[in-house]
Amino acid sequence: MTSLKIIRLYLKPIVFLICLLPIILVLTDLFEISGTLGANPIENIQDRFGIWGLRFIVILLLISPLKKISGIIWLIQFRRMIGLFAFFYVLMHFLVWLLLEQSLLMPAIIEDVTKRPFITIGFIALLILLILASTSTSKIRRSMGKKWDKLHQSVYLASILGVWHFWWQVKKDITEPLIYAVIIFILLTYRLWDKYKKTQPKKNPA
Ligand code: HEM
Repeated sequence: MTSLKIIRLYLKPIVFLICLLPIILVLTDLFEISGTLGANPIENIQDRFGIWGLRFIVILLLISPLKKISGIIWLIQFRRMIGLFAFFYVLMHFLVWLLLEQSLLMPAIIEDVTKRPFITIGFIALLILLILASTSTSKIRRSMGKKWDKLHQSVYLASILGVWHFWWQVKKDITEPLIYAVIIFILLTYRLWDKYKKTQPKKNPA
């Protein structure tokens, strides 16, 4: 059996199930099987989906550098799945806000998105992820060619907006968003450095 087949048959379903764990835990907490949702269940669910959305964005940004540093090329096979999970958790975070916090009331929704800058930023990040998720199929990738790579680089902007949104809504202790901001800064700087390295002419050994 080729390694690509092993990945497709065994590794991908396992990783898929692991990626579902955050939502399974929310559901088991909801029915008080694994724990509880605390005094403010809506905020608890919304925060958990938001933080997992950001974590999946970070994992997504980690895949390429890990592949380059370790030489494990098959890691790239998981990029699409991780990206779609990032979108899924951010979408769930948004839907909890839309349905449970705003009760689908249009005037309140429009006011929040336009008058609270941290929500505006989160909303833009969600729209970017929506575009990336809906153009993520191999068919669209093939038909777009080089433009696809350019478009999908906007995940870098989504990561910056996502962490900015997190930072902005924190009232006192900024430790957690700061940790995410530092990780994202390192990952994006690595990419810039890698790109710069590629533009440099290779030195001939003397
Ligand atoms: C890439 C997009 C987004 C990411 C990564 C993200 C992530 C997060 C994170 C990590 C938190 C803090 C959770 C905590 O305190 O533990 C948060 C809070 C929040 N987010 Fe987002 N978010 C995104 C988009 C959105 C969108 C589209 C909306 C609504 C339009 C939204 C509404 C909120 C609200 C209202 C809070 C505060 C919740 C509270 O009061 O505890 N977010 N978000």
